[in-house]
Amino acid sequence: MAKRLSVKEMLEAARQGGPAKPADEVEASAAPTETPDSPAAESTAPAAESAPVPAPAANVPSPASLGRPMTLKEKLAAARAGGSAPPAAAAPPAAAAAEVVAAGVTEQAPAEPASASPAVPAPAPSLGRPLTLKEKLAAARVGGGTPTASAATPAAGKPAGATAAATAPAKSNAPRTLPPLDKITDPKDLAEALRQSGAKKAKESAALAASKAAEAAGATPAKAATAAKAAVQKETKPQSVLPKPSKATAGVAGTTRRAFVAGPISWIVLGWASFAAGVTLFSAMLGRFMFPNVLAEPPSTVKVGLPSTFEPEEVNERFKAEWGFWIVRSTRYNGEDIVYALQSVCTHLGCPPNWLGGEQKFKCPCHGSGFYISGVNFEGPAPRPLERFKVTLADDGQMIVDKSQKYQQELGQWSEPESYITA
Ligand code: FES
Repeated sequence: MAKRLSVKEMLEAARQGGPAKPADEVEASAAPTETPDSPAAESTAPAAESAPVPAPAANVPSPASLGRPMTLKEKLAAARAGGSAPPAAAAPPAAAAAEVVAAGVTEQAPAEPASASPAVPAPAPSLGRPLTLKEKLAAARVGGGTPTASAATPAAGKPAGATAAATAPAKSNAPRTLPPLDKITDPKDLAEALRQSGAKKAKESAALAASKAAEAAGATPAKAATAAKAAVQKETKPQSVLPKPSKATAGVAGTTRRAFVAGPISWIVLGWASFAAGVTLFSAMLGRFMFPNVLAEPPSTVKVGLPSTFEPEEVNERFKAEWGFWIVRSTRYNGEDIVYALQSVCTHLGCPPNWLGGEQKFKCPCHGSGFYISGVNFEGPAPRPLERFKVTLADDGQMIVDKSQKYQQELGQWSEPESYITA
């Protein structure tokens, strides 16, 4: 019966590429102190029996062939190339993985069953407790599978908080799936839905405009589609810099400033213009008042007819209404038959007296003054006799009355020759 090989013997055989040696040879050359009764030999003995060490490949490197100690990768490659995955042969990768964990190397171990490595703990149900962080890390590295969220974060050498912060923006940038507009009750969701709808319409409008422009320019449908896509991308690209104000906008601002400065000046000019217009209008009205349309006075002379045409002791009232005098023929003033013109104005306050033929007197209706046919006052408040106008004879013998010249009895003027005409 062949002697059982220990784990170290099998590893050494795999590394050197030679056939497995008996235990006594190995013990004699490499491990003289190890005994078959040792716990390690007993624990690995069934595995060595069930899976003999396969013959190494011809190209498997070894320290002898390399002439230097093997690196960790070379050891792992040699262990993998040693054959299939017997439990004893799988132990070196597990041990290497343990070395990797101890050295802090982030290189991921090849995928092996977790149960094949004695350093990797079993899952939580088998342990009867939750896995610690180190256990999860070791299981993720040795198992080669996709690490869980809790294990992957330490494996990447980053704090869990930093990893969560790094993944948070991606989650927030993901587009939200909103229900239809008629079923939205949250105002925030409604605003978001409207914003997305507006952005979609803007993109469609930009694409349509760019496509039409390209087609109008004679471009091919492919180029038109490219232009539409570029327009959509341009529409989607956020503007981090405020747009430069256009010349039209700057012109409007300048006009506003000029209007702000010129506003009070225009009001002052408008006020002075209104004042000048008012002064001009007032001057025109004053001139119109000073120079009326009718300047000529009525003629002061009038022909009244031949003196013989008037009857003795007669008061002719034909010229009273238009000219303001009576033609009187009488002998009662100085006994002579004379004709004269009496002004029909009361010498009290200027009222026009009336001739009363039955009483042979002039009677003022205002205050009752009475005058004889000669014109001398005899009752009422009138202070003096009526006045006479100048009378002359024309070339044709007619009598002319001149109202520009008056004669007063109290002044002795009735004796003047132009104050009467002898009939
Ligand atoms: Fe003729 Fe006074 S006005 S009496």
